[in-house]
Amino acid sequence: MDRKKVVKLLNQALTLELATYIRYSTQAAVLTGPYSVTIGDKLKQMAAEELRHADLLRDRLVALGERPTTEVADVDVGNKLKKMLEININVERKAVEIYKLLMRLVPKDESIVLYETVEDILCEEEKDLEDLDRLIE
Ligand SMILES: [Fe+2]
Ligand SMILES: [Fe+2]
Repeated sequence: MDRKKVVKLLNQALTLELATYIRYSTQAAVLTGPYSVTIGDKLKQMAAEELRHADLLRDRLVALGERPTTEVADVDVGNKLKKMLEININVERKAVEIYKLLMRLVPKDESIVLYETVEDILCEEEKDLEDLDRLIE
């Protein structure tokens, strides 16, 4: 396993998870309009999930003997719902790319915990993408 590359990608994913947590929570708080309650609740739910992903990534980094980053990727919240959803879809796509790369870099027999953690997060990010695609008009 290319340990250095894996650590770099795990940290990069962590900065995105942190930013996404902040973005979803903020969007849920500032959203207005007829769908603000339903979509706001969905965004809050997703924010909690991203926070959990960040925790999982930190644990994997520590298990690899690394210190997890505290850096946060750019947080672009957006003003109107459509723009918010577009931003979210773009960042989820970026996250999916990173997790897919990680899946290729982590041999299953080297660390099943790391492998399955990445696989589980990837599943949830793909589901996020499906949900966001359906919310967009
Ligand atoms: Fe996530
Ligand atoms: Fe996500």
